[in-house]
Amino acid sequence: MEIIIQETAQDASNVAASIIAKLIKDKPNAVLGLATGSTPLPLYQRLIELNLDWSQVTTFNLDEYIGLPRDHSQTYYTFMWENLFRHTNIHPANVYIPDGNAADIPKFCAEYETLIIEKGGIDIQVLGIGTDGHIGFNEPTSSFASRTRIKTLTEQTRKDNARFFDNNLDEVPIHCITMGIGTIMDARQNILLAFGDNKAPIIVETIEGPLKAINPASILQMHPNAKFCIDVKAASQLKRKDYYNWVYSNRPEWQKY
Ligand code: F6R
Repeated sequence: MEIIIQETAQDASNVAASIIAKLIKDKPNAVLGLATGSTPLPLYQRLIELNLDWSQVTTFNLDEYIGLPRDHSQTYYTFMWENLFRHTNIHPANVYIPDGNAADIPKFCAEYETLIIEKGGIDIQVLGIGTDGHIGFNEPTSSFASRTRIKTLTEQTRKDNARFFDNNLDEVPIHCITMGIGTIMDARQNILLAFGDNKAPIIVETIEGPLKAINPASILQMHPNAKFCIDVKAASQLKRKDYYNWVYSNRPEWQKY
């Protein structure tokens, strides 16, 4: 794991953006895995500013609520088109977002897995992290081997997300479709972003705590290429912070992006 600690959320997002920009330049038909929520917004802003050529890029989103109409303001479909895609030249046919209104959701989920493989697998997966350690919507105790499927959101996640639904908890869906932890682990690279004091306890648990299904993000300890791009607030409880900063400032030339 590589722990990249930057002063601000925007600085950390800019590091992630430069890694993604390099991928798209080196491999124009790259396959990206994308996240929603408040965390990736500065990353998407930066990617838009970089004015990259998205014409051959394929994207797969991590998750989507079940049951909201597709054009509801809080679907991840709407989020992605508003905050990233409509500002790029991505081809709509190359955008894959789980369909929370699919007639046969288990079948849809199996096909989503097949599509990821058919498109060559995910080069870089962008992740946020829930305060309970979820990645995608793989809530605590999700199997580390899980694939795309239906999940039930925890009360904590629903409360965390109520801010997007006018703080009305009843409006927050109970179920979602999410890529599995096994799906995420298949990505060739994972970049997890986390910002702010409220992410500090789960970040220290994820990076320096034990591997355990109760903290799904801890599985990233087993990933061969996982980067954490985090701000000083989210990093504030890390015990080995000085070492991570030392590693980053002394990275060899070939490792720079
Ligand atoms: C969303 C997703 C979730 C969020 C997580 C953090 O696509 O996969 O895991 O990344 O809930 O949400 P924010 O960024 O709003 O704190």
